[in-house]
Amino acid sequence: MTMKTCGRGKQIKGVSPVWSGSLVTRLAIAALAVMTPFVGAQAQLTELGGTTASGATTTAQFSGGVTADNGATHKSVIAFDEEVDVVTQIRVEESHINTVGNLYVVVVSGPIFFMGVENQGFVVWDQNPANLQPMRSAVTFSAAVDLPIVENIVFGPAGVSDTTLQIFVAYDTTAAAGELYYSPAPLTFTVEAEQTQTQAQSLTTYQQSISGPIIQGICRTCHVQGGQASLTSNLLYVAATESGILTNYNTLVDYIKSGNSATLLAKPTGGTAHDGGVWFTQGSSNFTNWSTFINQVLGEN
Ligand code: HEC
Repeated sequence: MTMKTCGRGKQIKGVSPVWSGSLVTRLAIAALAVMTPFVGAQAQLTELGGTTASGATTTAQFSGGVTADNGATHKSVIAFDEEVDVVTQIRVEESHINTVGNLYVVVVSGPIFFMGVENQGFVVWDQNPANLQPMRSAVTFSAAVDLPIVENIVFGPAGVSDTTLQIFVAYDTTAAAGELYYSPAPLTFTVEAEQTQTQAQSLTTYQQSISGPIIQGICRTCHVQGGQASLTSNLLYVAATESGILTNYNTLVDYIKSGNSATLLAKPTGGTAHDGGVWFTQGSSNFTNWSTFINQVLGEN
């Protein structure tokens, strides 16, 4: 993104003005929060350089970072549900210290540009320089101006995920009318997509064809606390409540993964002696489901 002066406004070059001014969709990310002072060791912010819209050189420097630990470290990839702060800092030109000016923030997400607007959070910006509004106005500049972009935000649930965001920061000052100072490089970070937990196949099999007909219907008669099998075995099951189903499933998974898959298959099927008797034999659907379940657990890690 290149910025060029155009009259008294600011123009963004290299970007087609496809976003008409009527679009004022709000970005779902939260409105500005008040910055809490950082404590503890701080990592260096990423330097974003400094340049001007007119092309004149400047000593103004911009930096920024995304942190999940109040600035101790910065990250470029954040998880869907990770709470972070996005912070920037502007070291204004020495001659601008104690002058008054405005701070601007532009967030680019894919083809869409958002601008930080005072008291409004982020709104779509049509890339028309005349419509760029300050995120903070009439600021008296110190040497290093802290400009928090968002605080304690969890991007994913806020509707921003599986995307890379670029944040540009700029300021102007009454000391140099018409000029705009900005970061030529954006602060860039990626918000990951939501991790959808895929359920283990063996759990589905367990829920659908093992828990009810086999474990509850047959085995738990004896394989239960105080039951016949509890005298010599730890392979005991609880009732099939929502958590009980998982408990029993995990009991079996542990048993199988401890090297007992052959015993588990053989005991109720006549393959080996079982005080509890033979309950299903090869060819029955219970047998098929039972052996499928055991093999699925063995195949999963
Ligand atoms: C009528 C009571 C009874 C029923 C029903 C029963 N069992 Fe058992 N089971 C026992 C007893 C008693 C033992 C301990 C002696 C033995 O190993 O045969 C046992 C032991 C086992 C063991 C070895 C346990 C260990 O600690 O290593 C496995 C595996 C097993 N049963 C599987 C099953 C399965 C699977 C079912 C359901 C399909 C089942 N049992 C149904 C009574 C039963």
